[in-house]
Amino acid sequence: MMNLEQIDNKLKKIMKKTRYRHAYRVSQLAKEIAEFYHLPVQRIIIAALIHDCAKDYTIDDLYHFIKKYNIKLSVIEQKIPKIWHSYVGAEMAKDIFQIDDLEILDAIRYHSTASCKLSLIGKVVYIADKIEPNRNLTKIKKLQKMIWEDIDLTMLGLLNQELKYLISKDLIIHPHTLKARNKIIMNRKVFLEWPEQPDILR
Ligand SMILES: [Fe+2]
Ligand SMILES: [Fe+2]
Repeated sequence: MMNLEQIDNKLKKIMKKTRYRHAYRVSQLAKEIAEFYHLPVQRIIIAALIHDCAKDYTIDDLYHFIKKYNIKLSVIEQKIPKIWHSYVGAEMAKDIFQIDDLEILDAIRYHSTASCKLSLIGKVVYIADKIEPNRNLTKIKKLQKMIWEDIDLTMLGLLNQELKYLISKDLIIHPHTLKARNKIIMNRKVFLEWPEQPDILR
C-alpha cells in the first residue's frame, strides 16, 4: 500500500483542484471524528481522501473503467450514473493506490448509496462527505453538531434527507440506501411500532 504522502501526491495529479479541496476537507473532518471516537485515524483519512478519486471522469470514461475493471452493475445501478464514480473509485483504490484493506475499499464503494455492510470507517466517510464545512445548508447544520453526539443518529439523519430528496425529485432509490437506514433503526429501537412485542417476535 502507498503511504499517505504518496496517495496525496497522486490524488493531486488526477483530481481537479476544487475536487481535491473537497476531498481534503472531508479527510480533515473524518480525522477529527475518528480521533473523537477513538477509531482507526489513518485508515479513515485514507478512505476519505480517496473517496471521490473517480468523480472528475466523464460518464464515457467511467463506463470505460466499468468495463476495464469488470464491475458488475445491477439494473438499478446502470440507471444511476451519479453513483458510478464510487464503484470505479474502489477499483482504482486497489489498482492505482494498492489498497487491499476491505473496510477502506467498502467505504469508497458505498460512499454514494451507503450500505448496511458499512463499518465505522465507512460511516465516518459517508458522514464527513456530506457534512464537511463547505456544505452549509440549514438542514446540514443540525447534523454538523449531532456528529459529536452520535454517529448512527447522524447517519440516520443524512439517509432520511437523502431519501426525502430522491422522493421529491422522483429519482430512483438504491436498495442499499433503504437497507442502511432500516438497519440503523432496527439496531436502536426494537420494534417501537408495537407497544409490546407480539409473541411471534419474542
Ligand atoms: Fe462522491
Ligand atoms: Fe465527496
